Amino acid sequence: MIFDLDLDRVRNRPGIKWERHGNDVLSAWVADMDVEVPDFITDAVIERIKAGGLGYGFYDEPIPVLEAFQTRMSHAFNWDVETSDVLRVHDVIQGLEWVLQTLTPADSSIVVQTPIYPPFYSSVEGTGRNWLANPLLETDHGWALDFNHLEEVAARNDVSALLLCHPHNPCGFVMDDTDLAQIVDIADRNDLLVISDEIHCDLVYSPNKHIPAASISDLASERTVTITAATKTFNMAGLRMAFVHTSSDRYSPPLKEISTRMIGGINGLGQIATVAGWEHGDEWISELVEGLDHNRHLLSTLLNEHLPQVRYRPPQATYLSWLDCRDLNLGDDPAEIFLSRGKVALNSGLAFGSEGAGFVRLNFATSPEMLAMLVERMASSI
Ligand SMILES: Cc1ncc(COP(=O)(O)O)c(C=O)c1O
Repeated sequence: MIFDLDLDRVRNRPGIKWERHGNDVLSAWVADMDVEVPDFITDAVIERIKAGGLGYGFYDEPIPVLEAFQTRMSHAFNWDVETSDVLRVHDVIQGLEWVLQTLTPADSSIVVQTPIYPPFYSSVEGTGRNWLANPLLETDHGWALDFNHLEEVAARNDVSALLLCHPHNPCGFVMDDTDLAQIVDIADRNDLLVISDEIHCDLVYSPNKHIPAASISDLASERTVTITAATKTFNMAGLRMAFVHTSSDRYSPPLKEISTRMIGGINGLGQIATVAGWEHGDEWISELVEGLDHNRHLLSTLLNEHLPQVRYRPPQATYLSWLDCRDLNLGDDPAEIFLSRGKVALNSGLAFGSEGAGFVRLNFATSPEMLAMLVERMASSI
């Protein structure tokens, strides 16, 4: 059982999730899971380490990672890609900055659906662009895009791109084909690039499903650059390996112009792990999503029992929950109070933008037992 975890081992695991606050604090912040990396990945990595050959050239070996990407996208999402349209990068955020630098004018504006994963703000700002918020709407049926506002901001002369987090972190919102078609239509009418970060694509709960933005039409593939990785799915973010895909005649040539030295050789162990994950991971991913699905509902039960004032909508995707703590009257940064009084480390909602005041992000990719302890500690701190 993937979520049947040795909690002592989890709490003493190396890495920032459990080391940053010390192991008397329960950590549910950064987007690493508490699950073990699957054996088919560790075996492949260890096998290579034992065989040696970690020197120059490892990163350039013909590790079939582009073919693995092609097979995985076709098999999991019915999306046919050419390996020649896929570029390797170290991580998704490096890919994002490269795309912003290369394909959008300096000083132009990039539209983001807020609240949003904090590096979306810092990458846009760090590359000398401006971000423009299109806040998500919370409706009776869940999160939704505000298309009226999107139409307005997309029409501005300074806007050059729409940056999608698909599925969305922190709200766990999944866009369907109608949403995506509308986005592509807006992008096309306003001559905008669509950048789609799809790193959470495997972690989607039925009946929702992941549809790659670029896959919905020829127009979408002409407008879109997709950035994704297997690292989130297999809990191996530290191995650094991600992909940038575009088949657009307009966007592909400038992206390919970059000197390979600027990107650097891609971590060979990350490539080996990615291939192993996609070759052997189907059953493991199903089991993982089943366990996460259980946890997202368990979190509802636990909150109803211990913290009924907290508003929570189980996400359609991801192992991240976006908790509205405003009725607890803990001020703008309840995460700080949960940490100091309850010894629970969550992400402060403020990092995700101004809509995050009074919110926290809780990572529920842990054992049910740990999840219960987390919520009990949160409750004990108010
Ligand atoms: C939406 C999103 N994009 C990118 C990343 C980070 O990816 P990487 O570590 O490959 O830069 C995360 C990590 O949580 C994420 O949630």
